[in-house]
Amino acid sequence: MKTYMFWSVLVFTYLGTVICEKPLGRRRAVPVIYVQGSHYDVGYDVGRTFSSIIKNFIATYENLRDFEKEYKTDAGRDAYDKTLANMKQRFPYYIKEIQGVADGANVPFQSLFLLQMDDIIGTINDNHVPRNDTGGCSSLAIKTPKSAVLGHTEDAFSETLNHFYIMSAHIIPTPEDKERGAVEERFASLCYAGNMPGYTMGYNGNGLVFSINTLSPLTLKPGNTPRTFITRRLLASKNFADAERILRDEGLGIANGFSINMIWTDKSGGRKIYNAEVAPDLTGDRSLVNIEGFADEPLIHVNIYRRIKLKEVIGPIIDSSTARLKAIHAHPTPKTQKDIKDILSDTSGTDFQVFQEKKDTVIKTIAAGLFELDKMTWSIFINKPNISEPVAVLPIRFSMLEKE
Ligand SMILES: *[C@@H]1O[C@H](CO)[C@@H](O)[C@H](O)[C@H]1NC(C)=O
Ligand SMILES: *[C@@H]1O[C@H](CO)[C@@H](O)[C@H](O)[C@H]1NC(C)=O
Repeated sequence: MKTYMFWSVLVFTYLGTVICEKPLGRRRAVPVIYVQGSHYDVGYDVGRTFSSIIKNFIATYENLRDFEKEYKTDAGRDAYDKTLANMKQRFPYYIKEIQGVADGANVPFQSLFLLQMDDIIGTINDNHVPRNDTGGCSSLAIKTPKSAVLGHTEDAFSETLNHFYIMSAHIIPTPEDKERGAVEERFASLCYAGNMPGYTMGYNGNGLVFSINTLSPLTLKPGNTPRTFITRRLLASKNFADAERILRDEGLGIANGFSINMIWTDKSGGRKIYNAEVAPDLTGDRSLVNIEGFADEPLIHVNIYRRIKLKEVIGPIIDSSTARLKAIHAHPTPKTQKDIKDILSDTSGTDFQVFQEKKDTVIKTIAAGLFELDKMTWSIFINKPNISEPVAVLPIRFSMLEKE
């Protein structure tokens, strides 16, 4: 993609359609869809509404070319089929949701499912390191006397810049989906184009505010639950104990790694901050889960394991994490939301920054989010949060908490 940027107009063909695109720069746009219905219908409306963004992302996302190549090998095909069969059995309603997006956007289901497989299929034939690994995000959370604040930079491959949207959904499962375990869901989540909600940042109606950090264990478990299905299911989590059960995924377990930062608000308004690290359990049919609570200390998490001891990849995801942690810790301990904004805006690093906006970097900060629980707002910034106004301010609604 980078090399083509010298041309003022790109022309490429995808599935017989010719798409012309001018270099976009950094759009100050946060598309939001409010949507209600069954899993399939909600997926369909998201796909239909954001069809051009999704098509464009699928056509330009370099990693997907790699996943498609792996899919053509026996090992890749085997991992895909096994994962799909397992997910159809465990989460058939999320498979329908993906099918809905595919049908609405008019893109192949296979492309969208390959996005879910991510590093699981990317490493299936050649698990070499250093690896150019996915993602890179910094999260910070603090409790203040009156509030709790979670700040997050959403960092992703540069193709993802301008290729995301927010889904604010009320899922009303069909009787058939209900029978298979689907429940009513209310949530809002940022989504990378064509991807399921849940693997970035957002909140659910039961009192959860969250952000995700990608983590990269060296050894993965092809066929097991992709992390994006776990984080999709977390959007339905009722409380902290339920979230813990979902993370553990008893009976199968996660295939790859991630960490989630959570602030749980309970019915009486109490707030608790947690970070959970999740990894494949190489000896059992469940995920490895390590949860830490934060009361007086700030929560700081990037893209390396802090507590679970395992062999991680080597490569830019680790180097970048080390550099960002160093930059974050060079600031005084954050005490206010302004401190969090300042830290998230840090560009002091030479190779890697907390707010990554350099033109030629592979990983870029595509947006920053700030959740303020006293105001019940989720602010989304496209530029540095301490010197720009949020492009969007969404209400946080814990509607299911109020109902009972
Ligand atoms: C990693 O990414 C860089 C920059 O895009 C590229 O030059 C390099 O070949 C990639 N390495 C691997 C192992 O894919
Ligand atoms: C914004 O944050 C950066 C990095 O922390 C800092 O250097 C700068 O002084 C801050 N700017 C303002 C206006 O607070």
